[in-house]
Amino acid sequence: MSSTTTESPAESQSSSLMSSRMGSLLAFAPLSVWTLWHLYANLSAYEGPHAWEAAVTAQRAPLVEVITSTVVLLPLILHTIWGIRRLRIVKVNNVQYGTFDNLKFLLQRLSAVGVVLFLGAHIYKARIEPMVMHGRHETFGDISFQMHHHLPTLIVYILGVLGVAYHMANGLSTGGITWGYAATEKARQRLTLISYLFFVLLLGMGWGTIYALHNAGEHDRRTERDITAPATGPGVQSAH
Ligand code: HEM
Repeated sequence: MSSTTTESPAESQSSSLMSSRMGSLLAFAPLSVWTLWHLYANLSAYEGPHAWEAAVTAQRAPLVEVITSTVVLLPLILHTIWGIRRLRIVKVNNVQYGTFDNLKFLLQRLSAVGVVLFLGAHIYKARIEPMVMHGRHETFGDISFQMHHHLPTLIVYILGVLGVAYHMANGLSTGGITWGYAATEKARQRLTLISYLFFVLLLGMGWGTIYALHNAGEHDRRTERDITAPATGPGVQSAH
């Protein structure tokens, strides 16, 4: 909320702190928890198409669909609006102040832009397009095929997951400071360490899924080729 001439500096400061806290709370409580769960569910790509579809895209009751989407998408939209307003007040001064913390501050803003672009593309391709065009959820065959044979898809997922992992992990640490969990130098170091571990965890889960889908995409193509044009030469193995 922007300050007005009737607000005292103390009131203005406290409303800005309130807005910061709301912004980070929305990002943490439903969004980070949901993203962790989403990436974990996606790891079932290692167990094959049925396990992945049951974990990630299973048909849910319409009411459950609406509740899930509201719990995820509403905080996402609110956090994005809050973030865009904060982006406007950024002054880039990394040349004058080349500290690591200042670099992380800049990367947090850059990754925010990347995450918005990634999520727009991801939600459209993985959720809206299959629903609108085919009246169903994304299938394992489609996503793994795209991951293996469509390089732009692979690159978007690799960079998108990197951006999300950085934005969430670093946001956890800056959010912790806003909430007062880094009052001492030791607490600040602990929070930074937790955020690095969180980054590695998110990146490992996301890139691990991409790796599994990418490999499965190759397997699907072999299966298709073997079925349509059975090969007889040496070195060609059946996929079954
Ligand atoms: C390894 C990478 C990922 C894969 C394979 C993947 C896969 C999917 C799929 C298949 C859907 C559609 C689900 C359905 O039809 O019910 C989906 C939805 C979604 N994904 Fe991902 N995802 C990945 C990473 C991410 C990341 C890093 C985020 C960041 C927050 C994210 C956010 C979302 C959101 C917000 C939705 C829409 C949820 C809804 O409308 O209920 N995804 N994802």
